[in-house]
Amino acid sequence: MSEQKTVYLADYLPYSHLIDKVDLTFRLHPTATRVLARLNIRPNPARKDRDHLRLDGEGLKLVSCRLDGQAITPTLDARSLTIAAHELPVGAFTLETEVEIAPEGNTALEGLYMSNGMYCTQCEAEGFRKITYYPDRPDVMSRFKVRIESDLPVLLSNGNPAGQGQGWAEWDDPWPKPAYLFALVAGDLRAHSAKFVTASGRPVDLNIWVRPGDEDRCAYAMDSLIRSMRWDEQVYGREYDLDVFNIVAVDDFNMGAMENKGLNIFNSRYVLASPDTATDDDYARIEAIIAHEYFHNWTGNRITCRDWFQLCLKEGLTVFRDHQFSADMRSPAVRRIEDVVTLRSRQFREDDGPLAHPVRPESFVEINNFYTATVYEKGAEVIGMLKSLVGDQAYQRALDLYFDRHDGEAATIEDWLKVFEDVTGRDLSQFKLWYTEAGTPRLKVEEAWNDGIYTLTFTQKNPPTPGQPVKQPKVIPIKVGLLNPNGDEVVPTIMLEMTRAKQSFRFEGLAAKPVPSILRGFSAPVVLERKAPPEERAFLLAHDTDAFNKWEAGRALAKEVMAAMALKGAPVSPAWLDALAAVTFDDTLDPAFRALCLRLPAEDDIAQTIHAMGRIPDPARIHAARREMAGALAIRLGEGLSRLYRDLDDNAPFSPSAAQAGRRALKIAALGLLSRRDGGRLAASAFARARSMTEEVGALSALLEVGQGQAELVSFAARWGRDANVMDKWHALQIAHAEPAEAAAVAARLIGAPGFDWKNPNRFRTVIGALAANHAGFHHRSGAGYRLVADWLLKLDPLNPQTAARVSTAFETWPRYDAARRKRARAELERILAAPDLSSDLREMVERMLG
Ligand code: ARG
Ligand code: ZN
Repeated sequence: MSEQKTVYLADYLPYSHLIDKVDLTFRLHPTATRVLARLNIRPNPARKDRDHLRLDGEGLKLVSCRLDGQAITPTLDARSLTIAAHELPVGAFTLETEVEIAPEGNTALEGLYMSNGMYCTQCEAEGFRKITYYPDRPDVMSRFKVRIESDLPVLLSNGNPAGQGQGWAEWDDPWPKPAYLFALVAGDLRAHSAKFVTASGRPVDLNIWVRPGDEDRCAYAMDSLIRSMRWDEQVYGREYDLDVFNIVAVDDFNMGAMENKGLNIFNSRYVLASPDTATDDDYARIEAIIAHEYFHNWTGNRITCRDWFQLCLKEGLTVFRDHQFSADMRSPAVRRIEDVVTLRSRQFREDDGPLAHPVRPESFVEINNFYTATVYEKGAEVIGMLKSLVGDQAYQRALDLYFDRHDGEAATIEDWLKVFEDVTGRDLSQFKLWYTEAGTPRLKVEEAWNDGIYTLTFTQKNPPTPGQPVKQPKVIPIKVGLLNPNGDEVVPTIMLEMTRAKQSFRFEGLAAKPVPSILRGFSAPVVLERKAPPEERAFLLAHDTDAFNKWEAGRALAKEVMAAMALKGAPVSPAWLDALAAVTFDDTLDPAFRALCLRLPAEDDIAQTIHAMGRIPDPARIHAARREMAGALAIRLGEGLSRLYRDLDDNAPFSPSAAQAGRRALKIAALGLLSRRDGGRLAASAFARARSMTEEVGALSALLEVGQGQAELVSFAARWGRDANVMDKWHALQIAHAEPAEAAAVAARLIGAPGFDWKNPNRFRTVIGALAANHAGFHHRSGAGYRLVADWLLKLDPLNPQTAARVSTAFETWPRYDAARRKRARAELERILAAPDLSSDLREMVERMLG
């Protein structure tokens, strides 16, 4: 494989030419698809030099090339087609190319490929160059017309339908777009359809296209789509802008979904749902991803990114918008807690290791390696902070200005910040550090109480990250409330704006020393380092009016207890047990919230906590501590637990609503604890009686956790063996609950089973991802976990480098462990690096992880 070069943000130059129009014809064939492209091109007036024309292209067989109708012989290499400046006409010209490609052999799933007999595409980030010769960069926007020739019954592309007949269909997209938003689908598909009328009265045909037989599993996705469309009108004033909106579900897909203009393509696991196949988490995820891709129509498509360094411009904003949407559809407090759990487990983890990078990176080898938790999740947090700092009204005016000013453009983070500066008059240059500097700030807080004056003093530390040894203090919005010792709130939430390395804030007129509730709603993505006695945490868990911080108090306590148990064999803390018992049985609290409080911190989170304390985490001890805590909790909750379970075990007909999902979550949490006392007896009957996939998986998981469930595994497989997306749960559960010493062997047996389609990204990610998520199993001192993951990355890489590279992040925390483990992990990473023909995707990841 030829060396791929590093690209730098600092090297950005506008493209030499403009493409006014693109006409594409596809003659589909599994092994010999012909792609005819006619491009109307003229020199870019923004570029004074008269440059050659260089088009990206990879893996294309050029059949013919004509410039203004005349056959020419351009210069070709492995990545491009070039026509020298002196061979180009002075003004506008037309370039026609015909290439041949083989979608059937495309296992990388970038460009045009086949999945179960259907054709589909994935062009973001740089897949269009595998379809035809083109300037494959987001700042080149053009109008696309597409003709598809094939005998397959359903032929789809972007924009509006422009005619169809026997064996062909034409599509016309009136909105100029970059090539990464191009899409084509052809197959024997069925539609689940609905109609939508936009606020200004435009009728839109909505279709979700699936394989025959799956039509009855589309209702929830369709409902989510309609709610998303309405919400974007009401909250952001954004209307849909085409006559049709198509969504297609495909089984082979590297990521979650893709926002191609008017033709979103989804990983089938994020579309298909019915009560018997999808868990409540699946429903919530489908709703969020449908919304996310739909919202991209404005934040991503109408306004796109100038270059891939600006990826967070569309992704951070669109994640922020889908979080807002989910909060509106469900419980804001529960959503916020779940989002922070994800942020900490994925983004803080990334930010704390060798793969740390800024929300807006400055260089990359393979851009697909930067579709990360930092760009997405931290990118969304940065927007949340901006909104807190300027206030809701200014946020809305800034967004209106953004849409007005940049519609139809390819924009930058500078453009984005400028609209906020113009609307508020603020200088956001310090705020911009959140985009340019990597790493999670540590925020220390000290309190003082003197003569009726209460002072909070904050100190921020911005730890070094790869390539960024020294950092500046950041702007940190710190939302704070103060409680009386009797539990009443004396100072409701206010926002402190921290801008210096160390800063104090005073509160006067208080009768007694208050208890502070700091960083309410998780107002900034920082690690709050506050020493507080367990009694104070328990007090906040009982009294805080801010739901996030109420949960956070219990979570902080649980983390401290687990860390102390793992580090020095401390006993389970009675303060934690009592506080949690009070929450569990408090019927005035939302069941979903109580279920979240009962969810113990993940072992990887504790390893992260221990590492942040400057100590070395021992995965085996963390594992033992977590089990011991769960066991002690089951005993402490006593008989009340059975009562709670019975009360929640009602016969209401299934609904995927947040309220019902919350009750199910609490019921399953109770079941998990109960099975630690009865050896799984109740869970076995719950499995037999389960009326939804949530209950089925919940009961099975409770059984496996206590070493039971073999018969249930067999019956689950008998029932769902033909539904691969459902069977992913079956595979993941077995690995998640395997004993640490056996986890690698269990994963090896499952992934190596005859007929297991490990080449499918969902299957691969499920098994290898589940092993990586079994903290004590992956990091088992034998090294078997490291070895198995490396073996399979090497096996997948030649076929699908993108997915191999993503899954390789299993190793991103390796430097935090002891010398013996580090040695084993390093040896595996070096073994990967030594492989002949390693992809540039996986190579970049492994080189960065080795530092
Ligand atoms: N833009 C898509 C989304 O966030 C992600 C697709 C990225 N795909 C890729 N191969 N890098 O919804
Ligand atoms: Zn996105």
